[in-house]
Formats: sequence, structure tokens, C-alpha cells
Amino acid sequence: MQKGTIGKDLNLAAELLRRGGLVAIPTETVYGLAANALNPDAVLKIFEAKNRPRFNPLIVHVAKANEMAQYAEVPKLARRLAERFCPGPLTLVLRKKPMVPDATTAGNPTVALRVPAHPMAQKLLSLLDFPLAAPSANPSGYVSPVTAEHVAENLGDKVDYILDGGRCQVGIESTVVAVEDGNIRILRAGAITPEMLAEFAPVTLARAGAESGSPGLLPSHYAPKTKLSWGKLETLLEKHRGQNVAVLAFCKAPQKAGIIACEVLSSSGDLREAARNLFAALRRLDAAGADAILAEAVPEEGLGIAINDRLRRAAT
Ligand code: TXA
Ligand code: MG
Repeated sequence: MQKGTIGKDLNLAAELLRRGGLVAIPTETVYGLAANALNPDAVLKIFEAKNRPRFNPLIVHVAKANEMAQYAEVPKLARRLAERFCPGPLTLVLRKKPMVPDATTAGNPTVALRVPAHPMAQKLLSLLDFPLAAPSANPSGYVSPVTAEHVAENLGDKVDYILDGGRCQVGIESTVVAVEDGNIRILRAGAITPEMLAEFAPVTLARAGAESGSPGLLPSHYAPKTKLSWGKLETLLEKHRGQNVAVLAFCKAPQKAGIIACEVLSSSGDLREAARNLFAALRRLDAAGADAILAEAVPEEGLGIAINDRLRRAAT
């Protein structure tokens, strides 16, 4: 079979994974580039295909929340979070058990675990007797894929098969949290918001950067090839006067000379809809041939925190 073939054959996907292959899988957040999380050789292929720095650990996907205890120590608070939010867009960073290879956790004593909610990911995991390591299925640093076609465009020659589960419903990567001494530290913002987590324990938000405790939270990430600026649209348009610009607007398209492409994330101002549209819109704007992409800051609340986080880092 040709690399990068797109299809819906779950048995084929399972067989390729059993043989140590790479399969792109749909999740409710973004597409993942999956391999057997317990097989270091298979896991190394993920790093190679993505050109991912070896120090950046992978998320391990399991079929059910109660399987987490096979791979990590699960303190009470983590168990309560898993009961409430799994399956769903929450990743828990927990102290790992020895059976999880260093290749998967990049040598960290912790492992990130998540239960994807997408029915095809669920079905696939239930066919396997091992968990799946899966980072987002994009070349390291580029925009995450939310359709099978996005995966084919970027990594088609590197994956054995692309399981097509349609368009991702959340559209932005999972919330990554560390659970420490009864506190919740958000390492990466996502669809599970600080308010939702605050019902369970005190929440702190780690700042992106070297000391964030999450090696993948590099300040620069999620970046299109076209230079991107993020902030108040009016200010950005003023600064880029005289250039051909592509605009990513939150709920209303601005009217100004020089705008050669524009995407509105949600005309009704709905942050969920905006998150769902974010990465596909960024990819279209990246293809517009503009001098710059100008991305509007969205309200810094709920899912808006995650959207601004991605745009801020795309701009670095
Ligand atoms: O929604 C998602 O989380 C998607 C889908 C495919 O599940 N996956 C994803 O994986 O976004 P990735 O590799 O692109 O992002 C994983 C993030 C990185 O920032 C990584 O550094 C962090 O999780 N992470 C993984 N293991 C960790 C660990 N042991 N300690 C701290 N951070 C960890
Ligand atoms: Mg990623």
C-alpha cells in the first residue's frame, strides 16, 4: 500500500500499528500521529516523521480512564478529574510506571495520559492490547491538522495510513495538566478551561517557555510559514499599511485596502466555533501569498485563553 493512503479501515490501521507502523488517527481535538507507545522503535519513527526534538515527550492515549493506572500512579485528584472529563480533551501528567519506555516520555519520570473521545479512536484502541503514543500529526512547529487531508499534505510520505474520521470537532489540542500535591497546574490551555478545573482544586496556569514544566511548550509553535502578528486588528492593520495582508478575524471582517484574504472564526462570536475553525483558517490564510497574517486577539476567557495561546505562539 502507498504511504499516506486515506481510508476508514480500522482493522488495517490496527494491524499496521501491531507491526510497529505509523498511523494518523482522528481525535476530537486534532489528528494524532500514532504508534505503539510501549515499542521504543515505533515511537522513534514518530520523532523522525515530525522532525520533533527528542526532548519533547509524547501523549499516551488509552481506551478508558481506568487503564491509566496500568501506566502511571493516579492520585485521588487525578482520578476525580479523569472520571469527570475522560473521554475528552484533557491530558493528565502523572508519575510513570517502569513499563512506559523512556523513548515515549523523553526520559521524563512522568507520562502524559489521555482518553480520546472520537468514536474511531475509541474503536481502534479497543482493538489493540497496547496504548498509542500520538503527538499532533504535523511537522514539528507547524499548524496542527484537523482533517485527514491536512495530514496527507504535510506528512503523507511518512505515515503508513491515515484513518479518516472527518473534521475534528474541538479543533484545538487538549488541555494538559499536572496534578501536584492536590493542585492543578495547566501546562497547556485547551477546551477544558481553568473554570471547569477550578471546581476540583486550586488551578495555576504555567507560562509558556523553558521553565513551564512542559518541554513542548516552546514559545514558538503552531506557526504558519507566512509571518504572523497577533493583537488588536486596528493596530495591526495600521502597522502593516501598504502591505498585502491576510486577516484572521474573530467575528467581523474589517474593511481596509490591502486585505487580500480574510477568515472570520465565528460570526456569532462563539469561542467553540472559533476554536473549531482556527487551524483550517490559518492554513488557508497561509496559502494566500500575503506578506503577513494579522490575527485578532479573541476575548481572554474560556476557550479564548487557548485560542490566544496558540496565536501568541504562532506569532513568536
Ligand atoms: O489534543 C491533543 O493533545 C493531541 C491529540 C493527538 O491527542 N496531541 C497533542 O500532542 O497535541 P503534542 O505532542 O502535539 O502535544 C503534547 C504536549 C506537549 O506540549 C508536550 O510537551 C506535553 O504535552 N507533554 C507530554 N508529555 C509530558 C510530560 N511527561 N510532562 C510534561 N508535558 C508533557
Ligand atoms: Mg503538537
